[in-house]
Amino acid sequence: MPIARIGVIGAGQMGAGIAHVAALSGRDVVLADVSADLAGKGLAVVRKNLARQVEKGKITPEAADAALGRIVPSGDVAALAEADLVVEAIVENEGVKRELFARLDGILPPGAILASNTSSISITRLGAATKRPENVIGMHFMNPVPVMQLVEVIRGIATSDETTAAVVAAAKEMGKVPVECRDFPGFVSNRVLMPMINEAVFAVHEGVATPDAVDTIMKLGMNHPMGPLTLADFIGLDTCLAILRVLHQGLGDDKYRPCPLLVQMVDAGWMGKKAGRGFYRYSGPGGEKVPA
Ligand code: CAA
Ligand code: NAD
Repeated sequence: MPIARIGVIGAGQMGAGIAHVAALSGRDVVLADVSADLAGKGLAVVRKNLARQVEKGKITPEAADAALGRIVPSGDVAALAEADLVVEAIVENEGVKRELFARLDGILPPGAILASNTSSISITRLGAATKRPENVIGMHFMNPVPVMQLVEVIRGIATSDETTAAVVAAAKEMGKVPVECRDFPGFVSNRVLMPMINEAVFAVHEGVATPDAVDTIMKLGMNHPMGPLTLADFIGLDTCLAILRVLHQGLGDDKYRPCPLLVQMVDAGWMGKKAGRGFYRYSGPGGEKVPA
């Protein structure tokens, strides 16, 4: 199935990155959010990240301009009506995603693919919210999307071979390496990553070490590019908590119990980098990290 037009819904950090790589791969993109203002903010992030790639000599200024010209921001979900593939990247909440999938099912042409960038939620259940479960799939990009190579491809129980092949091909054309896995809570990426992040939060909660010490130990000791708490702030603490809750409930094992400190920080609105405060504060002119 040829994919010429891509819709991205949710213009936050992931949606902006997905629109960026989709447009660079030559696709026309509609980038939608709940308001035109939020969609415009997503487009501004794409503009900034394309400019960064031009500065580093990774792409030509012409390629950046052409990619930017292919993205149309919109505050209206109906603007996705012509898409061959929609990638959903809204908040990590099953009820909200199911409602959107049912709505998109009524808007998209027959045969169009509905992919979710969910970090953990059942693709099978998202498919069941539509009348086209064979066209529903997980297309899980990693953050920051323009940089990270992986796309985790998750088949729900009803996902067809044709849908999987089309999404694998589209991911490759965006310069990514697609890897398939089955539809289990947190898939592979977050089933392995989130327990490490949760354990790092427990280490702070129990007074074992400061956030900075935990991060430095993991960076210098394990050669991780970012310490787990810096990474949690980067992902978003609300998203980390939502993923851990899916793992805890879906796998039924208390080893996934979210640390009470993480719950409390999200309750306080300390969502990490995007909120200006998490395990660190982000208060420099470019949102640089300083200890909280
Ligand atoms: N958007 C676009 N490009 C970005 C970027 C962003 N937000 N942040 C950094 N970059 C680019 C830089 O331009 C630079 O590009 P070049 O190599 O072409 O020069 C490159 O990334 C490296 O950046 P820096 O040198 O400024 O900084 P760094 O060396 O510290 O790397 C990083 C930054 C790539 C983010 C690195 O710290 C890293 O790999 N961190 C771990 C990221 C990670 O684990 N991601 C997965 C998160 S989990 C997930 O995504 C799944 C989920 O469901 C939660
Ligand atoms: P974010 O908070 O940066 O952005 C979410 C965006 O979705 C916001 O702009 C919000 O206005 C919009 N939105 C919410 N409900 C909507 C609706 N009903 N219709 C349209 N737009 C709506 O979140 P994010 O970090 O970009 O995460 C988005 C998705 O990607 C989540 O499912 C998350 O689990 C997944 N994900 C996140 C990461 C990460 O590192 N942050 C990595 C991989 C996957």
